[in-house]
Amino acid sequence: MDIKFFDFKSFCGPLGNLTVVESNQYIPFDIKRVYFIHGVRGEGRRGFHAHKNLVQVAFCVTGMCKFLLDDGKEKKTVILDDMNKGLLIDKLIWHEMYDFSEDCVLTVIADNHYNESDYIRDYDEFLEELEK
Ligand code: TYD
Repeated sequence: MDIKFFDFKSFCGPLGNLTVVESNQYIPFDIKRVYFIHGVRGEGRRGFHAHKNLVQVAFCVTGMCKFLLDDGKEKKTVILDDMNKGLLIDKLIWHEMYDFSEDCVLTVIADNHYNESDYIRDYDEFLEELEK
């Protein structure tokens, strides 16, 4: 499984930095939704699902966390600690997020609106979906 990061456009100068994420520019889709996961305490572990169709890009605007990505054949772990690099969470990738720093603000950009029927929350069902 390839891990793909998108490099956002960044303007750095003596007055600080500015980072841009724009539909179809630094990420390959129209942005329909942005959500933030923050205030995760201690051993908090989230995710435990895949999506049938949703494609997302994740990055930490502050702090860091780890991502486990699993395509049903292979599992890979990635650390997100750079707000200028967005991690692709493709459809049909089981993902879990953990080891959140206290200050972590995980930002996720999605190519569609929230739709619970797009979630696969059961790992065996995920493996079955991959066979289709
Ligand atoms: P969920 O995606 O399960 O979070 P995580 O994978 O981080 O554990 O979502 C948690 C809850 O928030 C769930 O009840 C659905 C709701 N939710 C929305 O209503 N809209 C959204 O855009 C998202 C991402 C979640």
